[in-house]
Amino acid sequence: MDIKKICIIGAGIMGHGIAQLVATHGYDVNLVDVNDEVLNKAKASIEKSLNRFFVAKNKITAEEAEKILDRISLNVNRDDAVKDVQMGIEAVFEDITLKQQLFSELDAICDKDVILASNTSSLSITDIAIKSKNPDRIVGIHFFNPAPVMRLIELIKGKNTSDEVLKTSKKFSESLNKTVVTVNDAPGFVTTRLIYVLCNEAANMKMEGIASTEDIDIACKLAFNFPMGPLELSDLVGNDIYLHIGEYLEKEFGDKYKPCPILKEMVDKNLLGRKSKKGFYEY
Ligand SMILES: NC(=O)c1ccc[n+]([C@@H]2O[C@H](COP(=O)([O-])OP(=O)(O)OC[C@H]3O[C@@H](n4cnc5c(N)ncnc54)[C@H](O)[C@@H]3O)[C@@H](O)[C@H]2O)c1
Repeated sequence: MDIKKICIIGAGIMGHGIAQLVATHGYDVNLVDVNDEVLNKAKASIEKSLNRFFVAKNKITAEEAEKILDRISLNVNRDDAVKDVQMGIEAVFEDITLKQQLFSELDAICDKDVILASNTSSLSITDIAIKSKNPDRIVGIHFFNPAPVMRLIELIKGKNTSDEVLKTSKKFSESLNKTVVTVNDAPGFVTTRLIYVLCNEAANMKMEGIASTEDIDIACKLAFNFPMGPLELSDLVGNDIYLHIGEYLEKEFGDKYKPCPILKEMVDKNLLGRKSKKGFYEY
């Protein structure tokens, strides 16, 4: 199957980043969200990112940036937007019910050979596909934020994902100039499960008074050459997101993944991190 055009559903942080990435690599994109306001904001963010990080740094010309933008069409009508594509990538909220519903609808509308991918960062691909009649075409393509810059794609094989769909998805991911790791379906995959454990343990140490917030982060950065400390990272991603991931992993795997109690307290007090201007640090 030759992929030329892709529909991306959800134009938030990840959806618009993925749109920019795939359009930069020559694919046409139909970008879908619930209203024009979100879509226009997404396109403005893509334009800003292209100019600031690529044109200004002489990585691409202004004409190339213009062409990339021209490859991205905005659409509030999802059913129209998936008509002429060879792949759909979903980047809506991290909610299993929403994703199951979306995939069963896409499965009913799209031609049988269209690949349907989820950008979920933790949910089981097998579960996401549970209401779909053709789960063999459903796969996880996990991009990282910011999608145009981060070097990894985690490719997730659901229990029913066909080998052919996995192979085409791998070839597509590599065409974006990313390194691809292939993972069998399990909650949190490799990356989210690992980073959650690190950030949650750092929160536990903070709660136990083992060291200050700053010292926990400095220790991690200088001892392991990490670009960010775990508490800084938790603030960046959102303490609510880590709590949500922890609750899910605890439900699936047991007590070992129990979220640190201070994460819950912080979320209750709206100490979400950068987005609420206060978390482990103040912004
Ligand atoms: N933010 C990250 O760092 C990151 C990294 C990797 C993966 N992810 C995953 O990517 C997905 C999206 O995360 P995000 O951070 O971009 O979220 P976000 O909140 O920034 O964007 C979600 C977008 O989906 C839209 N949406 C919701 N329901 C829709 C529907 N039915 N049809 C069309 N659009 C709909 C919303 O309007 C919103 O614009 C999640 O599954 C998340 O776990 C996030």
